[in-house]
Amino acid sequence: MKIALPCMFVAIAMCSVAWGVESKAEPFADNACVQCHRDLPGRSSHIVSVEWKQSIHYTASVGCDGCHGGNAAIRRDQFQSDEEFKRAAHLERNPEFLLMNRDKEFVSAVRGRSVSYLCGKCHAKIKEQHLGSPHGEFGDPTCLYCHGQGSHQITQPSLAIIDPRGRAEGGRCSPCHRSGTMKAVTTIKQMLTDTEARIADSGEKYKKLEEWGYRNLELEKLHHHAKETRSQLRQIFHSFNMRDITNFTAEIQAVTDRTEASYQLIDRLRKTQRKQTAVGSMAVLLLLSFAALLIFYKHAFLEPHKPKQPPKSGTKSVRPPSDRRMARAEPVSAGTAP
Ligand code: HEC
Ligand code: HEC
Ligand code: HEC
Ligand code: HEC
Ligand code: HEC
Repeated sequence: MKIALPCMFVAIAMCSVAWGVESKAEPFADNACVQCHRDLPGRSSHIVSVEWKQSIHYTASVGCDGCHGGNAAIRRDQFQSDEEFKRAAHLERNPEFLLMNRDKEFVSAVRGRSVSYLCGKCHAKIKEQHLGSPHGEFGDPTCLYCHGQGSHQITQPSLAIIDPRGRAEGGRCSPCHRSGTMKAVTTIKQMLTDTEARIADSGEKYKKLEEWGYRNLELEKLHHHAKETRSQLRQIFHSFNMRDITNFTAEIQAVTDRTEASYQLIDRLRKTQRKQTAVGSMAVLLLLSFAALLIFYKHAFLEPHKPKQPPKSGTKSVRPPSDRRMARAEPVSAGTAP
């Protein structure tokens, strides 16, 4: 039994793994770019099987063609050679296809501002903000400098990207920012951190308010759409324009301040109400004890004393059952006796 149970678990686990492999088709199995590039020597195979595979885009089903364009819907067996297959996929010498599918125009390795246009196919608002920022104008740092470890491994971003460490500690922003402008880097990070914390804390308080039956349409706009608000803040942040960022965080703060004020007010009201109820109960309790005292007083001192009667002998005395039976039997035997 001691061995059978783990064996059963292992068997079940193996079955479910086999089932998973069989029931789920390999993602991107029909994608021409992935199929060819993962077997190419050098950087390509690393891009496919390591960087891109671990990126948020792989998880979100964005293939090579999502960024680079080209025609991913063709198959090897439609062509005489690998070279033809590649040319067709890269859309070389295929002006007809491009006339009808401009957005699929093949983009190979891009640099500088062009990276923003490439990413901006899908992240349009951030592209605009970035191109309008000092970084976009300068053409550096690009989206990939901040987001792409080894270029394709783009993962869930975090505030850790904003790195105020100095050059000696390997800070990511320090190649261009020295003590003067590094202050702005620190400020921007603090502003985002504070605002995130404020949205989270305020959301908890609003949830409490709702539990208490309080609703407010204006406050709801932030608290029921906190995710969107955070996302909006992150988009605006890419402008690296202190005034725009300050204005937006101030708007958020105004709502969280009003939430805090409502919370304090209603919390105080509830506490007062509870205190009033407590005071009321205390008063009733006091009255009751006073009444009890009066009754006791009346009994103890105002009613005439009766002398205590001793218990009647026989009626209350406890005799063993055998005695009682004998006592009952006595008169009978006495009556029938000659
Ligand atoms: C039949 C094989 C094959 C197919 C299919 C294929 N490629 Fe390529 N691709 C290559 C080869 C070979 C190179 C050149 C060597 C290298 O850069 O690794 C290349 C180069 C590239 C480059 C780098 C270009 C540069 O200028 O450095 C990109 C980007 C690219 N391919 C994207 C794609 C995309 C996107 C698709 C699908 C729409 C695709 N490839 C389909 C074989 C292929
Ligand atoms: C999120 C957008 C995006 C996706 C998805 C993407 N790439 Fe790229 N790729 C880029 C950008 C931007 C560059 C140019 C910047 C760079 O090389 O650092 C690039 C560069 C390349 C290069 C040239 C690398 C070099 O060192 O010169 C190759 C090859 C390539 N990509 C292949 C692929 C393949 C294959 C896939 C699919 C597995 C893919 N890419 C998916 C954006 C993307
Ligand atoms: C074909 C459309 C497409 C292109 C082009 C594209 N992305 Fe994305 N990106 C997505 C999708 C879809 C997601 C996942 C959904 C989401 O979180 O927005 C995503 C997610 C992200 C995220 C994570 C967002 C988050 O909230 O966690 C970052 C960062 C990102 N992309 C950066 C880039 C960069 C940098 C480029 C250019 C090199 C790029 N993307 C090009 C479609 C695209
Ligand atoms: C100077 C560094 C930097 C550059 C350049 C940059 N980003 Fe970001 N990006 C960040 C940071 C930091 C965050 C996360 C902020 C946070 O967590 O509050 C972020 C967040 C994002 C997100 C998530 C937004 C959301 O809704 O949550 C996307 C998508 C994104 N960036 C795409 C891009 C694209 C596309 C470009 C280029 C056009 C770009 N970034 C350029 C630093 C940068
Ligand atoms: C390739 C160089 C370069 C890198 C790397 C770089 N920046 Fe910048 N950044 C600039 C330039 C140029 C400006 C314009 C102002 C200036 O001259 O310093 C700027 C401006 C800024 C500003 C606005 C300053 C202000 O006073 O309005 C902020 C904030 C900022 N960068 C943050 C960052 C952060 C965060 C990083 C690291 C993720 C970073 N930068 C990395 C070049 C860079």
